[in-house]
Amino acid sequence: MNKEQAEQRVQELRDLLDRANKAYYQEAQPFISDREFDEYLKELEHLEERYNLQVPGSPTMRVGGEPSSDFPTVEHPVPLLSLDNTYNEEELNDFDRRVREILGHTDFTYLVELKFDGAAIRLRYENGELVLGATRGDGERGDDITQNIKTIRDLPLTLKNDYPDVVEVRGEAYMEREAFMRLNEFREEQGLNTFANPRNSTAGSLKMQDPREVSRRPIRMFCFDLLLEQEEESITQYQKMKLLKEYGFRVCEHYQQCKNIDEVHGKISEWEELRHQLAFETDGVVIKVNEERFRDTLGTTSKAPRWAIAYKFEAEQATTTIEDITLQVGRLGRITPVAELKAVQLAGTTVKRASLHNEDEIHRKDVRVGDQVIVEKAGEIIPQVLSVVNPDRENRGPKFQMPANCPACGEELVKFGDEVAWRCINPQCPPQVRSRIEHFASRDALDIEGLGEAVVDQLVSNDLIQTYADLYDLEKEQLLPLERMAEKSAQNLLDAIEQSKQQPLDRVIYALGIRFVGATVARDLANALGSMDALINADEEELTAIDTIGPKIAESVSAFFKNEKNRSAVERLREHGLQFQMEEEEQASKKLEGKKFVLTGSLPTLTRKEATEIIEKHGGRTTSSVSSNTDYLLAGDSPGSKYDKAQELEIPIISEEDLWQMVGE
Ligand code: IVH
Repeated sequence: MNKEQAEQRVQELRDLLDRANKAYYQEAQPFISDREFDEYLKELEHLEERYNLQVPGSPTMRVGGEPSSDFPTVEHPVPLLSLDNTYNEEELNDFDRRVREILGHTDFTYLVELKFDGAAIRLRYENGELVLGATRGDGERGDDITQNIKTIRDLPLTLKNDYPDVVEVRGEAYMEREAFMRLNEFREEQGLNTFANPRNSTAGSLKMQDPREVSRRPIRMFCFDLLLEQEEESITQYQKMKLLKEYGFRVCEHYQQCKNIDEVHGKISEWEELRHQLAFETDGVVIKVNEERFRDTLGTTSKAPRWAIAYKFEAEQATTTIEDITLQVGRLGRITPVAELKAVQLAGTTVKRASLHNEDEIHRKDVRVGDQVIVEKAGEIIPQVLSVVNPDRENRGPKFQMPANCPACGEELVKFGDEVAWRCINPQCPPQVRSRIEHFASRDALDIEGLGEAVVDQLVSNDLIQTYADLYDLEKEQLLPLERMAEKSAQNLLDAIEQSKQQPLDRVIYALGIRFVGATVARDLANALGSMDALINADEEELTAIDTIGPKIAESVSAFFKNEKNRSAVERLREHGLQFQMEEEEQASKKLEGKKFVLTGSLPTLTRKEATEIIEKHGGRTTSSVSSNTDYLLAGDSPGSKYDKAQELEIPIISEEDLWQMVGE
């Protein structure tokens, strides 16, 4: 590839990735998979690096640099003020009266916007380029989190159209409800603390030290304020929203101009109902004097402007009684205490159960059976117990005590490291057995149609199966006596089980249900190792040498295969003919079988991706760092520290040409 071709390809990739980002984040209609996205991004990164084509606006700049140890402080030349709050109509009328009094006329309008419940962000663009992203901090001084801010895909890294030299913008970073819940589910599964609400989750994510981590968090952003160097006297908030959009910022479309405070009241009551239909949390509306020129006259107090006010909605809460506290056993043995509630209406649904998260949380709130409690919907979806209404009453029930044993199987519960959750580690524990099998059959795993919760439940409780490997020994006669299982459905199920043997290796790995090994990690393991045997035999060092695999995952994978029962289940899957190898057709020869390569520097003709493909096609594989397990270092121009490491460990260093010779091309 010559420089000209590279430039052309780089442009193609940038366009594609920009469109993909837009489709994913703004239109919720992704047209390429996450994996393809990552591959194109890697290719672009490589080309930009190799041909020196890095530019600030490129999609690669969103991936984030190396972690920094701390955030520098930045002064905000124009402070980020907060807003006065009100929860009732009279106070809102007082606000309106004050504005009219100070201005001495009624020749102004209001703009009503939603109030986003996230983290306030200040952005600065110079000559169209993002140069600063900062938190609000104390309003005068915040943290410079520019590297993290750059990972937010809703933000333009470079501005569009006719922008001024310096553009200061304010907005709110937030998470959509669904994305927030998925993030929490994932964290729950991993034994990590969950976030209380999307706001905490956003603020926490933006303060992480590693921008690459931040880029994996589903952070979104609305902008709502624009500070122009030369104030145009006649500009309105309404026009600023249009300008923001023109420059490429994402603004929330739900803003409305109101002629007077009565119209504002009307909008508020509309939003009181409609807000539940939004994809994100809003805790109220912000009412702003629309005409910029009146804002100076109105001025600010020490902490909030007099030209704006927030009208906050009442949080959706209800009071009810805790009838019982039960324990739920997750697929990986995690025990979650659940409050069984006297049914109550909350934000349009009947609520009967609420998560109590973990033992520490129950003690912190001192929740007991028989208590009256306030429940709230966090992220409007999962109900939570907020607090006890009557903690001082007489004859209160006993303090909650975490049982020492699993409620389902009686096994003694354990805690790992600094985790807050208790776990049941008995692999035969019935709810775990059931959910492991459900997971094995689930859509992203082996996708066995007809093997849902109800069927698995019957199979396990009738003792027809104990592990997923038993599925492949099932016979029709055993199925027919089950509820709602006719001849045809039994046959369909058996066919579906048979078909699952064709599912590729990465799905099989995912289906095993190894802790920390989700669908993406499973794909990375399959791609890097190429076979189930390589996975079984890989030690922790080899595993962590794979790009995306950290010590925690490596430890978990090792532990899984050290367990006799897991090993024998996996062996039975092999006997039944499940896919234990990466798809054959990709293999051109076995010339590099079992050989581990590490790549460094830029090669004369091949991209990193192409070189990896060639190595894998011939049975070899690539890992990201040099260790004593590495067989070859494939080095190009300007190699990095890997080169020295390979020399030190006396690992053969080869060129692209050597590689061609090794594979006989
Ligand atoms: S305007 C001078 N508009 O609420 C005040 N703020 O409580 C400028 N917020 O720190 C703020 N949605 O982060 C404005 N539509 C909106 C908002 C909004 C959320 C946040 C903002 C501010 C906080 C004040």
